[in-house]
Amino acid sequence: IAYSVYPDHQTASERVADLFTNVLSSGSPTVLGLATGSTPLQVYGELCRRHRNDGLSFSQASSFNLDEYLGLESGHPQSYRHFMREHLFDHVDIDLARTHLPDVHADDAQSASDEYERQLQQSGGVDLQLLGIGTNGHIGFNEPGTKKDSLTRVVDLAPSTIDSNQRFFESPDQVPRQAITMGIASIMRAKQIVLLATGQAKAAAVAGAIQGPISADNPASYLQSHPHVHFVLDESAASELKP
Ligand code: F6R
Repeated sequence: IAYSVYPDHQTASERVADLFTNVLSSGSPTVLGLATGSTPLQVYGELCRRHRNDGLSFSQASSFNLDEYLGLESGHPQSYRHFMREHLFDHVDIDLARTHLPDVHADDAQSASDEYERQLQQSGGVDLQLLGIGTNGHIGFNEPGTKKDSLTRVVDLAPSTIDSNQRFFESPDQVPRQAITMGIASIMRAKQIVLLATGQAKAAAVAGAIQGPISADNPASYLQSHPHVHFVLDESAASELKP
């Protein structure tokens, strides 16, 4: 896996924003694969700034998010739909009707997952997929143990993921235990993948993903078999890589 190391989160985020700027500037319809969490906040901030100041347009773009929590009421401030509106969609010229997140309010969550997978395939495929990484190596909510051929589906969040997500909720019992996530195979169909990781807490997962064996123990290691993937890191996230 190719990777680049930058001095800080902001610089790394600007390089990721450059990749998005390239695909958006092609002038043809593009499909963006998007992530939530703390990691991409500055990427989205930079893209909003480029839209405002440099005329970067999302008018030809559609988007698919990696995942969405199950069990939060619609419009919940911690829902990923809300997150995307707050940090990106409401500040750029993307057509909201072409922004996709898994439908977590359907009666049957597994059929909603199948439908999401179908829409994803029908879209013609993600041109550029943005990923973060969990401290346990998860991508999307594909926790350790996930198989390589997994598709969009309902998953239980790992205890460590529930712990890390607690910071966004008022009390531990409010943190969702389940989500709908794209699978490893869904993610691997993207034409180009960029994984952004910053901070010491991600260093072991990053080293395992890039230099460890391909294994379900570190789901991000499956990316080693993707032809066009790049890790963008800050110095702390890169600190456990062997020279
Ligand atoms: C978010 C997602 C997750 C996060 C990961 C890192 O859509 O799919 O895999 O990318 O949990 O989260 P942060 O960036 O908050 O450290």
